[in-house]
Amino acid sequence: MTEPPIRCRDLCVGYNGDEVLEDLSFTVPHGETVALVGRSGCGKTTLLKTLAGILPPLAGEATVLGSTLPNPPPAGTLGYIPQSLGLVPHESALRNVLHGRLSELGRFRSLLGRFPEGAENEALEALDRVGLSGKERSRVKELSGGQQRRVAIARAFVQEPDVLLADEMLSELDHETAGSIVRCLEDLQGETGMTVVIVEHNVEIADDISNTVLSLGGEGIKPVTRAA
Ligand SMILES: Nc1ncnc2c1ncn2[C@@H]1O[C@H](COP(=O)(O)OP(=O)(O)O)[C@@H](O)[C@H]1O
Ligand SMILES: [Mg+2]
Repeated sequence: MTEPPIRCRDLCVGYNGDEVLEDLSFTVPHGETVALVGRSGCGKTTLLKTLAGILPPLAGEATVLGSTLPNPPPAGTLGYIPQSLGLVPHESALRNVLHGRLSELGRFRSLLGRFPEGAENEALEALDRVGLSGKERSRVKELSGGQQRRVAIARAFVQEPDVLLADEMLSELDHETAGSIVRCLEDLQGETGMTVVIVEHNVEIADDISNTVLSLGGEGIKPVTRAA
């Protein structure tokens, strides 16, 4: 049997030695979506940051795409949509999406602002897919919260990562827009076999969009049984 893209064993996560969540053991199988739910402040973002390699694990073990944290997985294989988005506000939506391709470029080339041929068309297509055609040249700081969120989603989508970690990706989006983003995600997953971990505070939505819901906080991870 092949190793799942994400495997955690007795993982403890937190800040500067202070535990936020402890004894987390779970795996995410290839091509599946796991949704993390739990009350505000329970540690959903902390866990996702740890899987993204931004925070070191406090104890236990986490393996992401064959690399045991804090060793990073191969460049470009991991996509992360932070809750705080991490966009460059004074740059255009298009340039922000192109940053999703940075891992494929030399640092110097990217500093010069030179992107590979075809990258711009892919970025434009990604912006179209998230419903932002017409906003390509707008500066991110001039876009609404939900539009900014969709720029961050497009940036992760063009990267076509093997694992996507998405933090509250659907918040600030109306029902219809959220639905179209989920369809985009599912299409991409169908095309590339991408594995997804998504933080979603709304349990009903979480259940809808995932194969498995993991409830965090309280006594650690509890798999939520899906309705038949
Ligand atoms: N940078 C930080 N340093 C120290 N503690 C933090 C930091 N960020 C968040 N926390 C604390 O970690 C806990 C979990 O936060 P977080 O993972 O953001 O929760 P959630 O995403 O589930 O709402 C909270 O008690 C929060 O105050
Ligand atoms: Mg959070």
